[in-house]
Amino acid sequence: MTEVGERTSNQPGNSRVEESLGKPVDNLLTPALLLRRDALERNLERMKSLVTGPTRLRPHAKTHKSAQIASLQVQSGAIGITTATVWEALSLASAGIGDILIANEVVGAEKIRCLSEAARNARITVAVDNPANARDLSDSARCADVELGVVVDVDVGLGRCGVRSLHEGVALAKQIAELPGLLLRGVMGFEGHCTFEPDPKRRSRFAREAMSRLLQVADALEAHGQTVDVVSAGGTGTYDSTGSNPRVTEIQVGSYAFMDTSHAAIVPGFDYALTVLSTVVSRHGNTVVLDAGKKSLGLDDPPPSVVGHAAAVRYVAEEHTVLDFDSEVPALGASLELVPGYCPVTVNLHDLYLVVDDGVVVDAWPILARGAGWSSMR
Ligand SMILES: Cc1ncc(COP(=O)(O)O)c(C=O)c1O
Repeated sequence: MTEVGERTSNQPGNSRVEESLGKPVDNLLTPALLLRRDALERNLERMKSLVTGPTRLRPHAKTHKSAQIASLQVQSGAIGITTATVWEALSLASAGIGDILIANEVVGAEKIRCLSEAARNARITVAVDNPANARDLSDSARCADVELGVVVDVDVGLGRCGVRSLHEGVALAKQIAELPGLLLRGVMGFEGHCTFEPDPKRRSRFAREAMSRLLQVADALEAHGQTVDVVSAGGTGTYDSTGSNPRVTEIQVGSYAFMDTSHAAIVPGFDYALTVLSTVVSRHGNTVVLDAGKKSLGLDDPPPSVVGHAAAVRYVAEEHTVLDFDSEVPALGASLELVPGYCPVTVNLHDLYLVVDDGVVVDAWPILARGAGWSSMR
């Protein structure tokens, strides 16, 4: 019987994971999350070569939740890492990532306490859109004797988090600047309502409009005597327009590292680095059924694609994907790789990456703070 606390998950140290090392990809237990190291490295290099002005990269770790990948991004020139959750930030700070922006609101006593804990190991900056939250952060930072950087989160049209007016932004910035334990660093605004616009010209125009809303707040803060060192925004879909705006100091691109079918539809030129390996478990005429479904594959629009085959996805169920082939129907037991519709959600379903070089598994990297985040923390 398993004792509470005993390791039962599919982590490095698990013998089945260890047995996977050195094996070719068509000889693995499935479903398995495969990461092609060469494609990942090409994607990191490509984004670095595309964003060359004053704007720096602060890649979003929600995509990968991996200390190894965050380190590769920093080694390839990123000024730091973005996270969505305090748990990602805490994990990456303990793994040695020195500069982290939580591009999200952190609310609630225990989460804020953990944020201050992360600030013992790294420079932490957090998004804020509410005065009471700012006071709570200040109390926690003072109590822990750390400094928390803060950016005023501005709603630039997405309608999610962020202050809704110039007046609100200026008042909040003034309050933050006066609160002990907090350092006002600037502003952030995520133009998520633009990133998936399929027409590149419209996408750029919408992103420019969003950035002008963000920069209005930055200007107003400066006019009121506040320092604005950080203007943080952007995603993979807007890396070109937002990443070439000279007043945006950093972009929070995430999905470019792996690419998936939803981002490839709007941003060409990046390689698929992440796939879900699956096995044909049933075959009827031209239809095959795979052992990977929604429990291992994050979906979006368009559907997942099959590496090396022109198969049509009929549907994706909980444990199965059903594919129709025109010809060359794979045999029962054959391995197929699926490119996810959306990588961040796919990653969150898995415990680890099997890292692949030249068709062989060379390493296993854990996925940190996965699932709900807090419950998978050590
Ligand atoms: C706050 C924030 N920044 C940046 C991104 C960009 O992510 P990606 O590059 O994966 O589109 C997202 C995506 O949801 C986000 O929520």
